[in-house]
Amino acid sequence: MNESTDVYDGLARKIEPSKGKLGVLLPGMGAVSSTLIAGVQLVNAGHSQPIGSVTQMSRIRLGRRDNPQYPYIKDFVPLTPLKDLVFGGWDIYDDNCYQAALACGVIDKQELEPIRKQLEEIKPWSAVFDPAFVKNLSGPNVKKAANKMELAEMLMRDMEDFKKQHGLERLVMCWCGSTEVYQENMDHEAFKTIDGFEEALKNNLDIIPPSMIYAYAGIKMGVPFANGSPNLTVDTPAMVELALKHNVAIAGKDFKTGQTLMKTIIAPGLKARMLGLEGWFSSNILGNRDGEVLDDPDSFRSKEVSKGSVLDSIFQDDLYPELYGDYYHKIRIEYYPPRGDAKEGWDNIDIQGWLGQNMQLKVNFLCRDSILAAPVVLDLVLFLDMANRAGMRGIQEWLSFYFKSPQCRPDLKPVNSLFDQDDKLRNTLRILMGEKVIDHSGLDYYEPKG
Ligand SMILES: NC(=O)c1ccc[n+]([C@@H]2O[C@H](COP(=O)([O-])OP(=O)(O)OC[C@H]3O[C@@H](n4cnc5c(N)ncnc54)[C@H](O)[C@@H]3O)[C@@H](O)[C@H]2O)c1
Repeated sequence: MNESTDVYDGLARKIEPSKGKLGVLLPGMGAVSSTLIAGVQLVNAGHSQPIGSVTQMSRIRLGRRDNPQYPYIKDFVPLTPLKDLVFGGWDIYDDNCYQAALACGVIDKQELEPIRKQLEEIKPWSAVFDPAFVKNLSGPNVKKAANKMELAEMLMRDMEDFKKQHGLERLVMCWCGSTEVYQENMDHEAFKTIDGFEEALKNNLDIIPPSMIYAYAGIKMGVPFANGSPNLTVDTPAMVELALKHNVAIAGKDFKTGQTLMKTIIAPGLKARMLGLEGWFSSNILGNRDGEVLDDPDSFRSKEVSKGSVLDSIFQDDLYPELYGDYYHKIRIEYYPPRGDAKEGWDNIDIQGWLGQNMQLKVNFLCRDSILAAPVVLDLVLFLDMANRAGMRGIQEWLSFYFKSPQCRPDLKPVNSLFDQDDKLRNTLRILMGEKVIDHSGLDYYEPKG
């Protein structure tokens, strides 16, 4: 086999160029959103580098290793330049983006000073909110309407006004709102078809969470949608059907940032070396508003489910019962206000080697939650906008790299290993641009020439 192959020739796409400004819509303007917006503005003003962003910092190899090229991803595929991004969003609090950035305390006040005015100009529109879905928060900036369909229409008007006000060419939406409570009743008729969902909106059905109303409004307007929380927002047949009908790209769910990022880096290595696993205990402390929301057991359940599944697809316990058949996986998140956004995670991993001998691995990750999440949102909005311009619609599994619980076709298992996800992402870009896929076999370099 050749190390590079062109068997996917027919899948190359003609991608429309990224003309004009792109509006980035953020439901939820808290720590992640304000860190993203401030970061893009600091980069645009020449004060900082977009570290952690694959679209901005990473190069992609094209061609064979004896004659390679390494363009930046942002030069290889037609992405919208950072200077053409315009941010807008909704929140239940009416703090402007500067106040929100100060309140979450991720970036120092003095670092925000050069962009203070621009941040102050970004004021959240009133939100679609329901305290039944986020129990630990309440705020004044909330829309009122006779039913959920009317709320969706109000969101659409916000988007249209935003587009007109800034002369925007296109929009993209990324849910950066709080984690909603875990929903058990996902096989309800309302989630099965577009008609059923629209009926439920008109009838104000209480099982429809706000995040779905935002996603519905966006998708109806042809706006691609990413889901940064563990909510099941677009994980329903109705929403997938809606996205296909409106030619819209969707992706989710739950940004892969701290502990789960490390898990999906370490676990594939243990598995590749056929080391057994007895248990993986993950605990962390977090003191930001996200931590406060997750202090509610029903919201925590959403997070627990999304975080819990990552190891299964990596270790394949069904194929390797003797190594991974019975491992114990426990996840704890403790709300601890003194730490704010500076999360600390501890992992204890009990592994087994040759002759069943026990070993332990300890990871102590002192990370910054929103510092890790902001570049993920940036990459997602840029890639989803590109996907829409390439005519790609429905679930975008190639963006699994960015998610704890990647959305894929329901009959497939998700891919969770960060390295497989990285290959998936890069090879998808190569395929879209008509370049050869690279599989790293490399035997062909040692074949006699001629
Ligand atoms: N920071 C990370 O590393 C990370 C990683 C994975 C997932 N996430 C998820 O990203 C989301 C945002 O995280 P964050 O740290 O910015 O949280 P945050 O609490 O600072 O911000 C969320 C904001 O959403 C607002 N909100 C809640 N419901 C809303 C609604 N219906 N409409 C509009 N606004 C609403 C809240 O008022 C809040 O300001 C959370 O769901 C979180 O679980 C974050």
